[in-house]
Order: sequence, then C-alpha cells, then structure tokens
Amino acid sequence: RSSLRPAAMGAVACAVRSISSTKATAARVAVVGASGGIGQPLSMLLKLDPSIKELNLYDIVHTPGVAADLSHIPFPAKVTGYKGADSIHAALEGCDVIVVPAGVPRKPGMTRDDLFNINAGIVKTIAEASAKVAPKACYLIISNPVNSTVPIFAEVLKKAGTYNPKKLFGVTTLDVIRANTFVAENQGTDVLQTNVTVVGGHAGTTILPLLSQVKGASFTPDALAALTHRIQFGGDEVVKAKDGAGSATLSMAYAGYLFTAKLLQALKGEKDVVACAFVENTLTAAPFFAAPVTLGKEGVEKVHALGSLSAMEQEALEKALPDLLAQAKKGVEFVQNAK
Ligand code: NAD
Ligand code: LMR
Repeated sequence: RSSLRPAAMGAVACAVRSISSTKATAARVAVVGASGGIGQPLSMLLKLDPSIKELNLYDIVHTPGVAADLSHIPFPAKVTGYKGADSIHAALEGCDVIVVPAGVPRKPGMTRDDLFNINAGIVKTIAEASAKVAPKACYLIISNPVNSTVPIFAEVLKKAGTYNPKKLFGVTTLDVIRANTFVAENQGTDVLQTNVTVVGGHAGTTILPLLSQVKGASFTPDALAALTHRIQFGGDEVVKAKDGAGSATLSMAYAGYLFTAKLLQALKGEKDVVACAFVENTLTAAPFFAAPVTLGKEGVEKVHALGSLSAMEQEALEKALPDLLAQAKKGVEFVQNAK
C-alpha cells in the first residue's frame, strides 16, 4: 500500500483514507488548470498513483515545464503537458477522468460567488471541450463556486446531449478532511480514525458537517457551534492567512488526489468505495447536493440517505437550501443565456 493512502478502514460513509493501492496501470487522467496552486501539487500526487498510465496536464500557461519536471519521477504514468486553448482537445481526448482546478482563487473579503463572473466562462469552455472529445469521462470539478460550476458543467453537457449524472462530481473532499482534522483535535482522538460526513454544498453555511453522526464523539454546545463554524469557514481561514496570495492549494491538492484515487479504484471494480461528493440527486429540493456516495465502475452507484440529523443540523439544512437552489439556478441560466 502507498504511504499516501493509510489503510484506515472506517465504516463511516465519507471515510477519505480507506483507499487501497493497485498494481494495475490503466487509467488516463487529465488535470485542467495543471499549472496552478492546486494543479501542480495535485498533478504530483497523481503522478505517484501507480494506477494511472497517462497523465495529461492542460493549462493556458507553463504546462510543458510542469510536465517535464514531473516526468522525471519514477512512477509509471506518462506525463504530457498541453499548453493553450488549441491543445485542449488533444489533452482531454480518451481520458477516463478529468479533474478541473482551473480558474481564479479568492482574495480576502471575497465570497466564492464573487469568482462566478470569471470562472463560469472558464468552466463552460472546459465542459464544451469535454463533451466533444471525452463524452464518457468522469468530471471532477474543483473550480469555485462549486455550487454553481457543477450545474454549469451539467448544463453544457445536457446541451451537447452527453450528460450522465453518474459521472459529474463537485469535489467537496476538502470539507471532509478539514472536519476530520478539527474534530480529532477537539476530541483528542486519532485523526487517522476520524471520519466526519459533510453534506450540502461548498460555500459557507451550505457546508453541513453532520457532527451528531461522528461515532464515539461528544461535544459541548459551545464546541459544537465553534467546530461547525470552523468547518464551514475553513476556506476563509486560509484565504486570510495567505493575505492576498490565494486560497487553499496544498490541502486541496491532497483532497483532490484522495477523491480521484477513490474514484479510480471504483472504476476498476473495487467494491464499497464511498466518499462524499456534490452530485445530482433527489435527497433535497436542491438539484445538486453533497452526500455520501458509493462509487462504482460507472461512477455514482448509489447516493446514500443523510441518516438522522440533530435539530440543529436539520435547521441548518433548511437554511442552506435556498442558497443551493439559487446558486445552481445562476449556473444553469449562465449557460442558457450564453450566445
Ligand atoms: P491558481 O490561480 O493558482 O491556478 C489556477 C490555474 O488555472 C492557473 O494555472 C491558470 O492558468 C489556470 N487557468 C485559468 N484559465 C484557464 C482555462 N481557461 N483553462 C485551463 N486553465 C486555466 O488557483 P488555485 O489556487 O489553483 O485555485 C483554482 C480554483 O480552485 C479556484 O477557483 C479556487 O477557488 C478553487 N478551489 C476549490 C476548492 C474546493 O474545495 N473545491 C478548494 C480550493 C480552491
Ligand atoms: C476552500 O474551501 O478552501 C476553497 O473553496 C477555496 C476558498 O475560496 O475558500
């Protein structure tokens, strides 16, 4: 087993470390936005995954250098850099998994929704290229605002007639790993055995950690409120600390790698691979809602029910729904109103 993927096998739905390694080398993976703060360390972690045989790095800048650098690491993946809009089709063609951390990050004082004006167009372009040359791939969307960029991606694929809801994921793993870290700190438990389910969306109060479901944990009312807030606004903590130099990149690269690796295991046929992700479902009135999902050979195999919620969690869920609905609608309308 790879040391990047400790074998803690939690039964809890959103366990993010229960990934076994594989000897087979098969998958073709593309990273779109591969030269960025997330893209570079994410690409490095993916290079270290022996189940990947081709790793295509696409960006509008710097990818030849990033690819040359990573290609010297002795792991099987053949790394190729693709730079500029003319090369996006070549980069995505034939890929099984396309991971998308392209777009601008926040600065202090901004919300994720403030990124919509720039990132919506970037994500739309990537979705159009994906529909054209990789219509059967799984798409993992990291670009913010996730609550809108995932509906944008879906709408573009619908227009192209290639949308498969089982293969489109908003990556919310960063919320889960933050929750695991903060809860283990608070409880004094082994962080490698702590598995928190985080549902909802990926922005502020739409992020819903289900702390009432953490096995063996007991929180004071103050700790419960403080932890919930810290998980919901963990992104702001990093944006503030980076002081204008961007948002979470290294923790996000790790989170993006974990989710991609889990999906690759499931696509290969491994059973009982479960992770939280922002996917289309009917659990709530929102069209997309992060929930524990069993992954399989065709992407989403099963979306799990949320289980029993505390009164506080139920109230937070009801408050989040109007935002999730509005942010999804904004994404859909962006595509529908585009020329
Ligand atoms: P960054 O600016 O460091 O990197 C972004 C990269 O995207 C750059 O290399 C840029 O050249 C590239 N890019 C821009 N337009 C492109 C296009 N049309 N096609 C391909 N590539 C393009 O930013 P970052 O810190 O890596 O963050 C990237 C995105 O991820 C941001 O939107 C950020 O908000 C988001 N993010 C999401 C999560 C999450 O949990 N889902 C976590 C952290 C950051
Ligand atoms: C995060 O949660 O860290 C990311 O969504 C980046 C951000 O803007 O906070």
